[in-house]
Amino acid sequence: MKFRVYRYDPESGQKPHMQDYDIETFRGMMLRDALKAIKAQDETFAFRHSCGEGVCGSDGVNVNGTNKLACVTPIADLKEPVEVRPFPGRPVIRDLVVDMTQFYEQYKAIEPWLKRKEPTPEQEILQSPADRDKLDGLYECIMCGCCSTFCPSFWWNPEKFLGPQALLSAWRFLADSRDQAKDERLDFLEGPYKLFRCHSIMNCVEVCPKGLNPTKAIGHIKELMLKKAV
Ligand code: SF4
Ligand code: SF4
Ligand code: FES
Repeated sequence: MKFRVYRYDPESGQKPHMQDYDIETFRGMMLRDALKAIKAQDETFAFRHSCGEGVCGSDGVNVNGTNKLACVTPIADLKEPVEVRPFPGRPVIRDLVVDMTQFYEQYKAIEPWLKRKEPTPEQEILQSPADRDKLDGLYECIMCGCCSTFCPSFWWNPEKFLGPQALLSAWRFLADSRDQAKDERLDFLEGPYKLFRCHSIMNCVEVCPKGLNPTKAIGHIKELMLKKAV
């Protein structure tokens, strides 16, 4: 099977280019297996991966124009030649490895932990099964970055717009019955950029390998803000 892969080593002084590889395939082969086969042919090629099970979130790449996790992408579903590029809109460190610092900064900015005004109980903070259910579709995010790096609003304003991953996570804490910092969380999201730069284009929903829906989460935050304002 033919692959066309983005190659760039900023230290080499050469310009980025696409390099062709021919890979022998096997039944059930995933894109990560193909990238490993390329690496076996050419040890100068760099890409990130770890768990191989769609859990660690480290092997996100852009494949034939769409962001995907390599280890859960069957090559049988891909059109030849398979074009593999780094995530769009992020600085390239080498080949398919990008700098995700800004993405992690945005996650950190939403303060992704439970905040309490009341003293924490000695054993546990109780939650009803119905309230626990509200976190389904939110807590499963593996922080792969497929969504944020496929979001046009994040490409243009990565420092000001929090992006779909951070906003999904912001809603994860706003929706949690155990969290007691709703007002300060909403105050933080005020303004034209952090939240409201989302134009509901839904690229994020299209590419999430866990089937999550950041656009819906963003809609819930906007509703809550409106309620707070009236
Ligand atoms: S819906 Fe919002 S967050 Fe998702 S890709 Fe579009 S602009 Fe980005
Ligand atoms: S919301 Fe989905 S695409 Fe975005 S970081 Fe989480 S798991 Fe990845
Ligand atoms: S290698 Fe861990 S998610 Fe793909």
